[in-house]
Amino acid sequence: MRSRPGAQTENVSSAVGGAAGESALQDGRVIDLHCHILAGLDDGPLDVAHSVEMAQQADRDGIHTICATPHIRHDHDVRIHELPDRVARLNAAIAAAGASVRILPGGEVAETIVEQLSDPELAAVSLGGGGKWILLEPKPGPLSATLDHAVVTLRQRGFQSLIAHPERHLCSDMLERLALLVREGALVQATAATMFDPPADRGMRVLAAAGLIHVLSSDAHHPRFGREVAVAQGLRVLGAVDPVSEHLPWVRDIAPAAIIAGEDLVPPYLPTVTIRPPDAPDHERRGS
Ligand SMILES: [Fe+2]
Repeated sequence: MRSRPGAQTENVSSAVGGAAGESALQDGRVIDLHCHILAGLDDGPLDVAHSVEMAQQADRDGIHTICATPHIRHDHDVRIHELPDRVARLNAAIAAAGASVRILPGGEVAETIVEQLSDPELAAVSLGGGGKWILLEPKPGPLSATLDHAVVTLRQRGFQSLIAHPERHLCSDMLERLALLVREGALVQATAATMFDPPADRGMRVLAAAGLIHVLSSDAHHPRFGREVAVAQGLRVLGAVDPVSEHLPWVRDIAPAAIIAGEDLVPPYLPTVTIRPPDAPDHERRGS
């Protein structure tokens, strides 16, 4: 029998959830839910000095909290039981460097590994240690039914899914697939830089206009290579797209704070996608 998820993280959750939300709402600083900031674990920074540089980059962008989300995947030897100590040591190094961002636990959990993780392991890599929300990485290639299965499996075990960067898993029926996952209670995380980086930006605005982006995160891996630890510019672009424009505080502040607190969330907008019946011919099953 599986143990009750979240039990070991209740203290973390109660200590950070409400305070984080209030802070975000009051000072305009935000939470980055997806960042490979822990050193020497996956394809992120090699040493703590680079992790600290990433934290300083986050400070400059107005990020006050980062969920450290190493890959929980077969091709990376990330030992979940070591993560709390790694997070604590990084927080100490960041404080010693004079940066103010704080690091919370998390993980980017591959859809292919969900069934092999125990409930306590899933709780340990839940976003913010809140015990509820799993950053779920689709397997390489187009979104497929295996992702749907992982979302349902997680929900049956008491967890909810935040789908990581669907823009990296293009498929002809992506809008419809994501709309179905949202109907199952999942939310969608997009990569902030794609909102303004061509050629992805046009497609991202389509995704946003369909009501299928709920949070933006950096998904940064290094302070000097690739994407920066930054979400502000992406939020400005996303905030100009309907229906997000009327709900930017929810996207920017309320949803990330609730996710790290392990709270249930209902998006303030529904996907504007026509979901086709499963036996309809292709030309009738196209999303609008
Ligand atoms: Fe990632």
